Amino acid sequence: MSLDTLSPLCVVIPANPAGCVSRTDEPKDGLTGPGEAGNGVHMFDFTGIVSEIAHKEARQGKRSRLTDEKSRKSMKAMILKENGGIENFTLSEMEKPEANAGEVLVKVKAISINPVDAGVRRDRATLLRMLRPKEGEETYILGWDISGVVEEAGSNVREFKKGDEVFGMVNFPGNGKAYAEYVAVPSNQLALKPKNVSHEEAAAATLAALTAWQGLVANAKVKKSDKVLVHAAGGGVGHYAVQIAKSFGSHVIGTGSTAKKDFVLKLGADEFIDYTSEKFEDEVKDADIVFDSIADSEHLLRSIAAAKKGGRVVSIKANFGDEHFKAAKARDVQTFRILVQSNGEDMKQVARLMAEGKLHSHVSARYKFEDLPKAHQQIETGKTVGKIVVVL
Ligand SMILES: NC(=O)c1ccc[n+]([C@@H]2O[C@H](COP(=O)([O-])OP(=O)(O)OC[C@H]3O[C@@H](n4cnc5c(N)ncnc54)[C@H](OP(=O)(O)O)[C@@H]3O)[C@@H](O)[C@H]2O)c1
Repeated sequence: MSLDTLSPLCVVIPANPAGCVSRTDEPKDGLTGPGEAGNGVHMFDFTGIVSEIAHKEARQGKRSRLTDEKSRKSMKAMILKENGGIENFTLSEMEKPEANAGEVLVKVKAISINPVDAGVRRDRATLLRMLRPKEGEETYILGWDISGVVEEAGSNVREFKKGDEVFGMVNFPGNGKAYAEYVAVPSNQLALKPKNVSHEEAAAATLAALTAWQGLVANAKVKKSDKVLVHAAGGGVGHYAVQIAKSFGSHVIGTGSTAKKDFVLKLGADEFIDYTSEKFEDEVKDADIVFDSIADSEHLLRSIAAAKKGGRVVSIKANFGDEHFKAAKARDVQTFRILVQSNGEDMKQVARLMAEGKLHSHVSARYKFEDLPKAHQQIETGKTVGKIVVVL
């Protein structure tokens, strides 16, 4: 109650209207009782009430300051307590991270979900390999891909300031802790979000787009007029790989199931091979680059067969073994098995292509933060078109 809400009736009262305090009606909360004016009229010790109200307000103010302080320091995060199904996720309140030297604190607007997220959730060995948790860490915040707004820049950060819109893949491989309202990110892993791109599209173009960039550009050195065979061209990584190869002026052939044909051709692919009815190695025998994301050793062997003599094969999933190296050597094919790495310079190249309108994210589904587990169910179908994101 504040002073200006005090009823004037409660200052001098001839009787004792309900709600007003009298001598016989001692206040239970310690408010000073009324005095008597000597004329039968009960007078309140107004000073006492005022001072008590002031105290009460101070107490309430302190409480709400503490509540404000607590909410300033806390955030929501999706926690995984143990490996298993999506029921193991809990949306929890926890302490907000701080931006250490060289880091920025990002208020997250969108998060993207990848097959590796689901692998880490399901399987302990994958979690340990990908998150590299600290000893004693028993609950985990998964995720790496974010787009958001810089809330605070730590010391030594010159490139970004409060209010900048940024996106990136945080600490991969490692502990990105991206399923949260706030994420502390090494500033050298971020790029400014292009103005023509939404946070959802930007969040999508992080791990998947970086994988395509690092595979095709940093490793296989894609160039104009290369013939590039991109497997799974309608999925997360594949749909960026098609566009990145096209941005270099390559001739791109995408593979996918029948339902993906129109989508892949609209991305800019010159040809499409339906893997449900055709054998790609029968159609392509002279690829400069084959980009393989299929978890199948035999498929990778067939990819080597689709590369020309002196060509390059990039695998982001199946491992090359003796048989592959032998086949590759026989045809002078270079092999690259890559694991994507957080890298701000590569992120800037992705941002540049997006700003130039040469790279687009196709976001096929959006989920609320509390529905993030449903996004895991979707990515586990292995049939996702483009990318899926969680919006905060
Ligand atoms: N090494 C790394 O750094 C790295 C980075 C990112 C991803 N990855 C891995 O790469 C894989 C792909 O990731 P993603 O994010 O693109 O997954 P995604 O979004 O789930 O897409 C997978 C795509 O694969 C297609 N597909 C399945 N079998 C196929 C086949 N035999 N031939 C051609 N296409 C096929 C599916 O399309 P259809 O509906 O046409 O079957 C689907 O669109 C995952 O295993 C992921 O873990 C590795």
